[in-house]
Amino acid sequence: MDRREAMLRELNLYPLWKRRGQPAPIEAVVPNATSRLGGGEADTQQSAMGIATLNPSYLSSPSDGGQEIANLDWPQLKEVVRDCTACKLRAGCTQTVFGVGDEKADWLFVGEGPGADEDAQGEPFVGQAGKLLDSMLAAIKLKRGTNVYIANIVKCRPPDNRTPAADEIAQCLPYLERQIELIQPKLIVALGKTAATALLGKDATIGSLRGTLHDYHGIPLIVTYHPAYLLRSPTEKAKAWQDLCFATDTMQKL
Ligand code: URA
Repeated sequence: MDRREAMLRELNLYPLWKRRGQPAPIEAVVPNATSRLGGGEADTQQSAMGIATLNPSYLSSPSDGGQEIANLDWPQLKEVVRDCTACKLRAGCTQTVFGVGDEKADWLFVGEGPGADEDAQGEPFVGQAGKLLDSMLAAIKLKRGTNVYIANIVKCRPPDNRTPAADEIAQCLPYLERQIELIQPKLIVALGKTAATALLGKDATIGSLRGTLHDYHGIPLIVTYHPAYLLRSPTEKAKAWQDLCFATDTMQKL
């Protein structure tokens, strides 16, 4: 069994799931709102990591520090994130989890926030969900760190893996925005509802956001399920595979 087949088996995608002739249609480019945020996971409104729901009011509540953060270079940004105490999450976590990978990557994958493993190791997606994410990357011939950057909406682990609150997202989002400006990825893949709604600035279900090429400040953005959700709902992996195929087809055209 080759590596790709092994990964597809891991995703429950082999041997039944084969690429069909046509990629998913690009229905529309959804204009990005002036500010963004969101939370939760699947259409049930449940988060990939927790059950709290977001208050869409924070969609128009940019962080106070946004202006300054927008001018930072990589070392400055890493230092500011490391020392950040802007919201209550920092008091309850071990360390901030900045992001990992190729700082000039074409691909950016964005999750929700660190869990226990990420909090302990200081790197995004290193637990069970991270293993599945690595398998998903491998299925489309990508590898963590090679032309791929992985980050989260919030840099600190929310207590009990709850969904980050609106004010926590609003405080933290400028850091990710600056990371995106510095990376200049060709394509963003939002993993789960928190990432999708935070980046797109609108509260919508994953089901309604999937299969459409969205826009984040001029960068194409595709939405798929969070790997933690896929671990709980493996039958949805077929849809995630469709989304990954849509993403690779999109990337090829960029
Ligand atoms: N879930 C996330 O959203 N991010 C991580 O880094 C780990 C799990």
